[in-house]
Amino acid sequence: MNVFRGLFINSWSSDVQLDGKTAIVTGANTGIGKETARDLAKRGARVILACRDMVKAEQAASDISREVENATVMARQLDLADTKSICDFAELIYNTEKSLHLLINNAGVAICPYSTTADGFETQFGVNHLGHFFLTFLLMDLLKHSAPSKVINVSSLAHSMGNIHFVDLNSKKSYHPVKAYVQSKLANVLFTRELATRVEETGVSVYAVDPGLVKTDLIRHMKKSLQFFVKTFGFLIKTPAEGAYTILYCALTPDLPTGAYYSNCALASCSRAANDDNTASRLWAASCHLLGIRWR
Ligand SMILES: NC(=O)c1ccc[n+]([C@@H]2O[C@H](COP(=O)([O-])OP(=O)(O)OC[C@H]3O[C@@H](n4cnc5c(N)ncnc54)[C@H](OP(=O)(O)O)[C@@H]3O)[C@@H](O)[C@H]2O)c1
Repeated sequence: MNVFRGLFINSWSSDVQLDGKTAIVTGANTGIGKETARDLAKRGARVILACRDMVKAEQAASDISREVENATVMARQLDLADTKSICDFAELIYNTEKSLHLLINNAGVAICPYSTTADGFETQFGVNHLGHFFLTFLLMDLLKHSAPSKVINVSSLAHSMGNIHFVDLNSKKSYHPVKAYVQSKLANVLFTRELATRVEETGVSVYAVDPGLVKTDLIRHMKKSLQFFVKTFGFLIKTPAEGAYTILYCALTPDLPTGAYYSNCALASCSRAANDDNTASRLWAASCHLLGIRWR
């Protein structure tokens, strides 16, 4: 069985150290985000756990600090379903941090019942795409100032089932939880592509990552039958630490092509929709419009 499992799981390691570097990981209190934060802390980075629930965030920070000697790990409040919270978080970062070398846009919600964010966006599109789009917009000056720096957007292979429904981005006319999730994950790849073009020559690189199929709490809103499948066959699925590998690969490997999509610690092909420059630039304009920002 180990051989079978090995077919799906990459193993990867790097001895790169991150002393003097600062990283933000969104949704770092659990799952892939927590494992990513733990690894970055082991390498000597100053790591900010950007989480919506401060009790869980403090717990994660103390877990990491207990395990990693001399870790510099801080829990900070960030609710990506609320632009006010995103502004407050960014303001705190500008007031407390001199630099930012890694922004890891990892937090996500999947296949949940219909709900809206504080600003009235459909939750999956609002948190997974718009929240991270807005956060990156606000932190871009610090990323440029700290260059070379990287933005890593955690997407999914599921992006390949997605379309961007420009006539109904927020699923107001009709809502399907899977369609909304795959749209948000496609948006992560398109955002990566467009952002990389726009920040070319600034020293900021941008990557989209598929972490693989990973055993985490992401399934909490899914059908009981699917949850049962994941729990039963969990031993075939990546652990959260293994799910962090491709994020870490992009974070630590120098000179990777920017604007691209990575899976299993390698450059990978994304869907035709995710390669469409016209859709990427339309989505950029629509996202700015929804958020009421100008981002040239
Ligand atoms: N697991 C997989 O198989 C898989 C596959 C492909 C892609 N991914 C992607 O991997 C990323 C991490 O997912 P995971 O599997 O590690 O799931 P997870 O264990 O459920 O972690 C998701 C994290 O996002 C946070 N989050 C949710 N809504 C938020 C909000 N409004 N503001 C701030 N944080 C919020 C959660 O916080 P709470 O704990 O407070 O809810 C949690 O920390 C996601 O982007 C997901 O789409 C996962």
